[in-house]
Amino acid sequence: MTEPRGQWSGRLGFILAATGSAIGLGNLWKFPYITLENNGGAFVLVYIGAVALVGVPIMIAEILMGRRTQMSPVGAFKAMAADRPGGAAWQGVGWLGVLAGFTILSYYSVVAGWTIHYTWLALNGHLSELASDPAVLGNYFGNEFLASGPQQVLYHVLFMGLTTGAVFFGVKGGIERVAKILMPLLFFILVILVIYSTTTSGFGEAIRFLFHPDFSTLTTGSVLEALGHAFFTLSLGMGAMLTYGSYIGRDFSIPKAALQISFLDTLIALMACIIMFSIINTSNIEVNKSATILFTTIPTVLVKLPGGGLLNALFYLLIGFAALTSTISLLEVVSSFAIDELGWTRHRATLTMGSVITVFGVLNALSLGGHGALSSINLIGRESTQGVFGTMDYLASNWFLPVGGFLIALFCGWVLSKATTRQELEEGHGTMAGYGIWSFLIRFVSPLAVGAIIVSVILGKEYQ
Ligand code: TRP
Repeated sequence: MTEPRGQWSGRLGFILAATGSAIGLGNLWKFPYITLENNGGAFVLVYIGAVALVGVPIMIAEILMGRRTQMSPVGAFKAMAADRPGGAAWQGVGWLGVLAGFTILSYYSVVAGWTIHYTWLALNGHLSELASDPAVLGNYFGNEFLASGPQQVLYHVLFMGLTTGAVFFGVKGGIERVAKILMPLLFFILVILVIYSTTTSGFGEAIRFLFHPDFSTLTTGSVLEALGHAFFTLSLGMGAMLTYGSYIGRDFSIPKAALQISFLDTLIALMACIIMFSIINTSNIEVNKSATILFTTIPTVLVKLPGGGLLNALFYLLIGFAALTSTISLLEVVSSFAIDELGWTRHRATLTMGSVITVFGVLNALSLGGHGALSSINLIGRESTQGVFGTMDYLASNWFLPVGGFLIALFCGWVLSKATTRQELEEGHGTMAGYGIWSFLIRFVSPLAVGAIIVSVILGKEYQ
């Protein structure tokens, strides 16, 4: 007897879960850091363009495949490609997605675990002590916390436990329930922090930095980086949105949902920038444009503000919440593969896959100690191939996701018939005036743009 397949309770459940998948460390950590690195304004505009012209069309494509087949990526490609050119070979895209989910989760959960430690440190007052001197905190983070194998393993295992627990209880009872509690909380904490940052003296400068484009500072590398990030932050290229789309009903509009999810994801990324840049500008700390800014610079600034200890705790709690709804989606891709393709029960699938990934992630956690750890932490992992941690990150972000996204775009744009895609997109939406635009973007713009990322990686430029 197979269990009945999961379903969201309704439209809101899906939107919150999918937005939860999209919003994560990519928004709160990576985006502010690369925005600083790429000089703000113009980069932000290009990023928004990438989300609209490449991200949204591919998200629509993924959700459409999921809803059409009611299957996870491997099965979805198998079913839709059956009578099309390429046939069964297309299921390889699904396999690549499962591999990517496995790989990303095994290091993402390590970083996510740090938020538990920092929330705890903030609550018990230690963080305020450490953060009173940037050098002390930097030293603590790099040479004590990261170098401590047992701590790295502990928090990673804890975070995987939370993730596995949520996925264990299923689509509606676990994933959706967690998202319905955490997403509003996350938004609430962010709004408090944004309001707070408007009262700081660095607010105006932060807004100028973000919204006054200066195109003379824009490089080809920045454009490619914005594109690559659009993928990661929207959870595209490995079938996560496809999987979530397989649990929705036939009665609501896919294009509208994709636009809403992408809008919310971008909004939160910008809010994170406003908060961080305002408080950084307020202090006269020299900004190290490093990937570790979130765990070294931010606390030292927050702690100087009134209520700093509490602000720090809220801040790391927020990041932990965001990360949890993302790790859940990563585990769901891997688990739903076992459920749909291997015929396992959900409980068996989540416990097995969760444990295997936890063990694998322990290797990543342990690889952080020692030399090069700091430089290998870079969520998108461009130049970093040091250590197991950096390698995972590099493989997933530079190869699996872009290649997966490229193939998804080709498949929906060129392999499936227009009649099929149009019919699916119009179901629950009505006549789709924008179908022609979507079709053009998915056939030409997305493959070319994503192809450019792949070529630049092959040529070894890696977004530089
Ligand atoms: N989008 C998440 C973030 O910004 C990470 C993530 C979750 C993801 N699921 C994914 C990235 C699937 C790629 C594919 O942090």
